[in-house]
Amino acid sequence: MSFDLHRLLADHVGRNAALHTEHVNPRFARVLRTIGYDRCYVRAQGPHIFDDSGHRYLDMLGGYAVCNFGRNHPTIKKALADCIALDLPSMVQFETPLLSGILAEELKRRVGRGLDYVFFTNSGTEGVEAAIKFAKCATGRPALVHATKSFHGLTSGSVSINGCDSFRNGFAPFLPECRMVAFNDFAALEREIARGDVAAFVIEPIQGKGVNIHAPGYLAAAARLCRKHGTLFVADEVQTGLGRTGSFLAIDQEGDAAGVIEPDMVILSKALSGGFVPVGAVLVRGDVWKKVFSSLDRAIVHSSTFHQGTLAMTAGLAALAAYDETDAAANAVRMGAMIRDGVEAMMPRFEMLKAVRQRGLMIGIEFGAPKSLMLRAAWSATHAMDANLFAQAVVIPLMEDHRIICQVAGHNLDVVKLIPPLVIDESDVRWFLCAFEDVMVKLHRATVPVSLLARLGRNAIFGGRKIVAEAGAP
Ligand SMILES: Cc1ncc(COP(=O)(O)O)c(C=O)c1O
Repeated sequence: MSFDLHRLLADHVGRNAALHTEHVNPRFARVLRTIGYDRCYVRAQGPHIFDDSGHRYLDMLGGYAVCNFGRNHPTIKKALADCIALDLPSMVQFETPLLSGILAEELKRRVGRGLDYVFFTNSGTEGVEAAIKFAKCATGRPALVHATKSFHGLTSGSVSINGCDSFRNGFAPFLPECRMVAFNDFAALEREIARGDVAAFVIEPIQGKGVNIHAPGYLAAAARLCRKHGTLFVADEVQTGLGRTGSFLAIDQEGDAAGVIEPDMVILSKALSGGFVPVGAVLVRGDVWKKVFSSLDRAIVHSSTFHQGTLAMTAGLAALAAYDETDAAANAVRMGAMIRDGVEAMMPRFEMLKAVRQRGLMIGIEFGAPKSLMLRAAWSATHAMDANLFAQAVVIPLMEDHRIICQVAGHNLDVVKLIPPLVIDESDVRWFLCAFEDVMVKLHRATVPVSLLARLGRNAIFGGRKIVAEAGAP
C-alpha cells in the first residue's frame, strides 16, 4: 500500500507525548507536561497554531525565531510545491546548481559590504563551524574569542565558544584557545585581540540568551579593532537576521560615524528556511575564502552532502520573497515598539517588572526583586525552590490561562523572551499585552510560590493538555 500522510496522521492523533516518551526524549516530554506545554498541535497559520481541540494559540516563540514570515506562508508553500512538481535534480553534487547560485547572488545583494562568496549549510551551528574553520585557515591563528552568555549552537566547535555552563557541562574537552570576554567590555576585548593570536571574534549582535544589547558603538569599534589586528570579525546573525530586529541584519543598525560595520563573515540560518527546510548561509570576504579554497585540489575542502539541496535553496529564495511581501522588518519595528511601550506602561504598577530590552521583535522582559516585604518573601521562596522557576511563573500561566507560547530566556535568568513571527498584528499585540497584564496582577500576590507549585503538581499528575484553557484567549 502506498504511503498516505493523511491516514498516518489520523491513525496516530494524540499520541505525540506517548511516542516521545517511549522513543525520542522522555525527559523533554516530562518537562513539557509539567509546565503545561503538552499540547497536540495540528495546524498553523501565520503567528497562530491550532491544537487538536481547535484552540488557537499565539506563537510568541516563532520556532526559536525560525518562522519570521509566519507559518505556512503561501509564497513559500507554493514555491516548495512547485519545486517538487518540477522533478528538479537535487544534489547531483558534481554540478553547479542554478538555485544555489541565484540564492547566493540574492543574499549578497541584500547583505552587501563586499562579502564575495556564500557557503551554504544545513543549520546555524554548521555555519558557525564553517566560520571557525575558515577563520583558522585564513589567518593561521589558533584562538577564538567570544562573549560571556554567548550562544552559537551546540556542536563541538560551537559549544566551545558558548558562554553558558549549562550547555557546556559534561562535554569537555573543548576546542583549545577559546577565550571568553565579558559581554560589552571593550577593554577586555582589546586585551585579548592585542595578543595577536586570535583568528576570529565571533559575536551575536544581540545575544539570544537574555536578549542582551551592546552599548551603542561597541560592535562598530570591535569590528575596527579586529581589522587592525588581523582578527576576523564574525557576525552570527543566525537569530537576528532576516528582519528580526527591524532591518535585514542587526548590524545594519550598528554603524557609527566612521561608517557601516564591515564583518569578514556573516552567518545566517533559521528564518532563511521559511520555516520549512533547514538551511543556512555563511557570507565570506573574498580574500578569506580564497585562503581556504586555495587551489583546485581544495575546491571542496569544506563541504557537506546536503548543503545546496534544491528544496532548501527554494525555501531560502521564497523566504526572501516573503520577507519583502510581508514588509517584515518594518512590521517588526512597529509591533516591537507597541509591545515595549505596553509593558513599560505597566512597570509603575508591578514592582517585579524591572526592564524591557527590545529591538524590533526580539524582546526580553526582565524581572527583579521587589521592594515590599510580602512580595520579597515570595520572590525569595520561588528562587530558593529553583533559580529557573520565576520566569516559568510567567511563562506557564501565559500558556495555561491565555494560550500564548513563549520561553524563558535562558538558565538561571529572570527573563522572559519574545521572538514571535514578524507578521503579528495589533490584535496579536493586544492579546499578548492583556494576557501579560493579567499574569502580572496574579504574580504580584504573596501566594506566587504556592500557586506555582500547585500548577506544577497538578500538571505532573494530570498533564496541562487536560486543562482546558478558556480565559483570556480570543
Ligand atoms: C545566534 C545563534 N547562533 C547559532 C545558533 C545555532 O543554530 P542551530 O540551532 O540551527 O544549529 C543559534 C540557535 O539558536 C543562535 O541563536
